[in-house]
Amino acid sequence: MELHEALYTTRAMRRVKPDPVPQDVQARILDAAVRAPSGGNTQGWRFLLVDDPGVKDRLGPLYRDAMDALWKTIYAPRVAAAEADPDSAESRSFIRVRRSSQWLADNFERIPLFMFGFTRHDPTGGSIFPAVWSAMLAARAEGVGTALTAVLGISHRDAVLEVLGVPAGEGWHMACCVSFGYPTGKWGVAPRTSAHEVAYRNTWGEPIGFEVAQPLWPADGAAYAPAPAPVEGDVK
Ligand SMILES: Cc1cc2nc3c(=O)[nH]c(=O)nc-3n(C[C@H](O)[C@H](O)[C@H](O)COP(=O)(O)O)c2cc1C
Repeated sequence: MELHEALYTTRAMRRVKPDPVPQDVQARILDAAVRAPSGGNTQGWRFLLVDDPGVKDRLGPLYRDAMDALWKTIYAPRVAAAEADPDSAESRSFIRVRRSSQWLADNFERIPLFMFGFTRHDPTGGSIFPAVWSAMLAARAEGVGTALTAVLGISHRDAVLEVLGVPAGEGWHMACCVSFGYPTGKWGVAPRTSAHEVAYRNTWGEPIGFEVAQPLWPADGAAYAPAPAPVEGDVK
């Protein structure tokens, strides 16, 4: 896959089929992840893959409870705003994200694979997410959808560490939990606020000096047409 296709179309792909992600695919994803940079090249990371139904059965209720808490606390103002004015563009976007996030929570045990990312001796937190994002891009190249989640770190962190058998007192910090699976839906280019609206040059607030009215990939504003998924028996 061309690099830009992966960069532009690696979305939060939460709705996935229960089909397993084969171990050779997992190996390619993790092998790409560990090529990422870390502060001082310390590689103070661990990646814990979860595909055991028994472990997922213990994590699912924690995940759902954590999502419930999120809607009632941090996201409560956005939930209220979306309910008050459901037709605004902002509300529609939030309602879509909420439905999709809730789908992941409701179907946690049916997701074939999760990857928990752990980091230590990493005060900025910047030494784990390049590797996590590389894993997500590598998964995209394999046709595997991912969704980065942090909600288990907000509620139930200790319970999750216990379920996963993470040793206490060694400084491991759970940074995120990423879901993996083959999408039920289509890949698309992520809509975002344009670069020139969120970037400055030299001094805060000063224009960046260029405008990007629409995504620069695919070139010339062409519509994105993902390559069809390989069918069984296809030679890759
Ligand atoms: C730090 C971080 C934490 C996130 N936590 C969650 C989460 O707990 N649950 C969830 O469903 N999605 C979570 N997401 C996914 C975001 O909601 C998603 O990336 C965003 O809505 C953009 O989605 P899109 O790329 O499909 O447009 C998280 C993303 C990031 C970067």
